Amino acid sequence: MNNSYAPLFQPFKFSVSGIQISNRILMSPMTTWSGNNDGTVSEAEIAYYKRRAHGVGAVVTACAFVHPRGRGFAGQIGVHSDAMLPSLSRIAAAVKEGGSKAILQLYHGGRMCPPALLLDGQALSASDIPPAFGDAVLPRPMTEAEILETIAAYGDAARRAAKAGFDGVEIHGANGYLVQQFFSPHANRRSDHWGGSMEGRLQFPLAVVEAVVSAAADAGRPFIVGYRLSPEEIENPGITMDDTLQLADALAGRALDYIHTSTVNFWAGSLRDTEDKRLRASMIYEHIGKRKPVIGVGSVRTPDDALRLLESGVPLLSMGRELLMEPDWVEKILSGRESSIRTTLSLNAREELVIPEGLWKMMLGRKGWLPVEE
Ligand SMILES: Cc1cc2nc3c(=O)[nH]c(=O)nc-3n(C[C@H](O)[C@H](O)[C@H](O)COP(=O)(O)O)c2cc1C
Repeated sequence: MNNSYAPLFQPFKFSVSGIQISNRILMSPMTTWSGNNDGTVSEAEIAYYKRRAHGVGAVVTACAFVHPRGRGFAGQIGVHSDAMLPSLSRIAAAVKEGGSKAILQLYHGGRMCPPALLLDGQALSASDIPPAFGDAVLPRPMTEAEILETIAAYGDAARRAAKAGFDGVEIHGANGYLVQQFFSPHANRRSDHWGGSMEGRLQFPLAVVEAVVSAAADAGRPFIVGYRLSPEEIENPGITMDDTLQLADALAGRALDYIHTSTVNFWAGSLRDTEDKRLRASMIYEHIGKRKPVIGVGSVRTPDDALRLLESGVPLLSMGRELLMEPDWVEKILSGRESSIRTTLSLNAREELVIPEGLWKMMLGRKGWLPVEE
């Protein structure tokens, strides 16, 4: 290996669980649109994980819905009932077999759930405010009982993940889904104790953290709990960086192993103020006095990009799209073959890259998402 890449391969120990990963690189969670209709994992997805779960320190799986009312994607995997345990065990085993730690991402789509995927077609959220983007549906505000049931569902989901053999879970508090909706002044207009002030908007995310952390403590073995957040929303009103720094402060005081940022481009700066070029992940890490490791992400392609990300100060990085295009990214660096790392997608490589069909269609369908080979 070229020695200059050594910083990428320092092992990292999470301080709450004590679990160690072999290097600084995680696979970022990616939905595959390829599970079975009943929420179980398909053979194609198992093969996809096996192809990627070697080399990286940990794989964060595609998001899994914790409650039938939170199903956000066709072909999404579920962690909503005990009937999912055999399916979940297969995913955990496929990832761990390759030597990576297996982290299941816990999800509820809230107002982003397509009505066709819900039993009665009714999406729920903090308030009756449709999303500003995408296929907008009018959600119904959750009742107190539904809120408590949903929080409990996160705890049950974490318990199932532990039972199925995962090394940990990540709470999906990013990308506009339910946990973020409760924190967002755009989606959450409640006047009860689940909304209103900053303190009110923090209630649901922190209650979910508490439920999951408590399930982790019951696991009877070390178990990672991470939290993913989107630093800002572009909407007005919307989550500002100032809001996020307060959320990060609250998270830093909980028994979490990491905070995972969600940005499309790590170096892009603020979504809300194009003049503000400060790196969101580094701002969070500095603000919390480095009390929790922060994972940076977004548009890392080459090993030099990865080094540059770590040089900005955060201790860990995750990669999504690049690992779709190059499953051997880590091994190629370790064996000095980094010059052969692919950073574009070849249109006839689906089989060789072991990409399930649903994911492949999405990869090609969204213009500009992945650089396609000429
Ligand atoms: C196909 C695809 C599916 C994704 N699904 C999820 C998901 O399930 N959960 C999540 O938190 N982020 C999801 N993301 C976002 C990625 O985890 C990552 O943050 C984003 O792609 C930016 O990193 P990258 O430039 O390394 O791909 C997805 C991204 C892609 C490309």
